[in-house]
Amino acid sequence: MPVCALYLSSWKATYSGILPQARLDEVDHQLIAKLWAGIFAELDLPRHSILVAEERDELIGVVHLSPSVDDPNDMEVARLYVLPEHQRRGVGSSLLADAERFGRLSGFRHASLWVVENHHAAQGFYTARGWLPTGESVTRQGDGWSVQELRYRLALPDV
Ligand SMILES: CC(C)(COP(=O)(O)OP(=O)(O)OC[C@H]1O[C@@H](n2cnc3c(N)ncnc32)[C@H](O)[C@@H]1OP(=O)(O)O)[C@@H](O)C(=O)NCCC(=O)NCCS
Repeated sequence: MPVCALYLSSWKATYSGILPQARLDEVDHQLIAKLWAGIFAELDLPRHSILVAEERDELIGVVHLSPSVDDPNDMEVARLYVLPEHQRRGVGSSLLADAERFGRLSGFRHASLWVVENHHAAQGFYTARGWLPTGESVTRQGDGWSVQELRYRLALPDV
């Protein structure tokens, strides 16, 4: 799946130096293929969807939208990834703006997302677009690693 190649390439480029080595080592094509197969199996438009960005028939960006497990009135924005060579050209901003519009049209009242605690570039990207930290955090754990994530939220007023 092209989305797996995009996701893996952007994920590795982003998190090397940010996430513990044990976490970096366990993420490979097989794990990502399983992750996206699960996402595609759960798609249920319009509230559980994937938006993509393409340029000349190439997939260059993706974002996954679903109802939050904590509150079904919240749209969870996850896996916003742009290919490294296409970053900082407005693709991520367009995908996020489309996600917010899509969320409003699908009847969500808020959008929320989780960002790795020391991923300051992404935090700056979201706050510059009106998202605010809620003060909530979660610890994700795996074999030999532990990562703290922070929640950000945005109101989706009626249009
Ligand atoms: C975060 C991301 C989705 C933003 O998409 P993008 O297309 O690069 O962003 P845009 O071009 O729309 O906006 C660029 C702005 O975002 C911020 N930004 C994006 N990447 C940044 C980086 N690596 N370092 C610092 N600021 C960054 C800056 O404010 C930048 O503005 P500037 O170029 O004028 O300084 C993209 O960089 C990406 O895919 N990163 C890797 C995956 C990731 O971290 N996803 C978020 C997980 S929570």
